[in-house]
Amino acid sequence: MAVQRDTSGQIESPVNRQFAQDLKEGFEQELKHIPSKYFYDDQGSKLFQAIMGMPEYYLTDAEFEILETQSMAIHKQLAWQEPFRIVELGAGDGKKTIQMLRAFEQAGLDFIFSPLDISEEAIRLLEASVREQLPSIKMESHVGDYFDYLGDSGTHKLPTLILFLGSNIGNYNESSATDLLKLIASNMNEKDALLVGFDLKKNPNTIKLAYDDPHGITRAFNLNLLERANRELGADFALDQFDFYCHYSPESGEVKSYLVSLKKQTVDFKHLNWQVDFEANELIWTEMSKKYSVEQIDKLGAGAGLQTESQFLDCKHFFSDCLFRKQPTH
Ligand code: AVJ
Repeated sequence: MAVQRDTSGQIESPVNRQFAQDLKEGFEQELKHIPSKYFYDDQGSKLFQAIMGMPEYYLTDAEFEILETQSMAIHKQLAWQEPFRIVELGAGDGKKTIQMLRAFEQAGLDFIFSPLDISEEAIRLLEASVREQLPSIKMESHVGDYFDYLGDSGTHKLPTLILFLGSNIGNYNESSATDLLKLIASNMNEKDALLVGFDLKKNPNTIKLAYDDPHGITRAFNLNLLERANRELGADFALDQFDFYCHYSPESGEVKSYLVSLKKQTVDFKHLNWQVDFEANELIWTEMSKKYSVEQIDKLGAGAGLQTESQFLDCKHFFSDCLFRKQPTH
């Protein structure tokens, strides 16, 4: 790959190029948009960890409970007698996954854990915490994008449990979620299984509070997108000139998050020789976090050629880890 230099002669990494291109595309839309994968640079991954630590963000505790208490039930459902592999897409800090690893290790199961995350720092921390808490676990981690990884992870012989936890799927609209599940399914053998974490529909006030948190952490998480553009693309977003807004619609099951330009302003991207205008109160849409019913989960899987084997719910029925297998081809 050719080395790219900006006007000041600084070398830009390929990631910056992709970020620049995706921002340009997103800001050309009628409703300006920043793809939510850009939340997770090292700073954003730290803020997301702080979100997971808030009592209002019930998702983490609910899924933690499922994996702490039902991992052996999940393994039983897999019905594998032989060694296997666990691949985790978007592993993050792995706090929830470690519950499953611990249960499997205590049961004397033979497996290798292969986490993937877009943040190098997150993977480094995850490796350190697994090594510390469960020193004998075999690990083979990867830094990168799901799509790149799924494209060339085809050559393996061990039965594989793919984990896609934490309601990460909630960021995709129905058609992209279906495409992603289809892509995962196309990388699965008949024996393999996929465990996907879905946030369930519930009292809308509970959901609203998880995103519109009183601590301002979700706000900082959103503003980090602008800070990241400042850091990586030489933009001059004035952080105090943007607000954060989000709302939940119980009818569609969607939480939508936005940044709001507090005045008419022009932002300059020094490294890109590019300016963007914002009207007063203009929105930048940053994220969609979709909530499902148990029935909608089965339906989504079916549309991607996956069959629900079981849904594992927490005691409050706030969250579901759904175990899918590929639908038999005939
Ligand atoms: C990591 C995508 C599951 O949508 O709940 C948390 C990210 N955004 N608070 C979510 C997030 C705002 C989170 N996911």
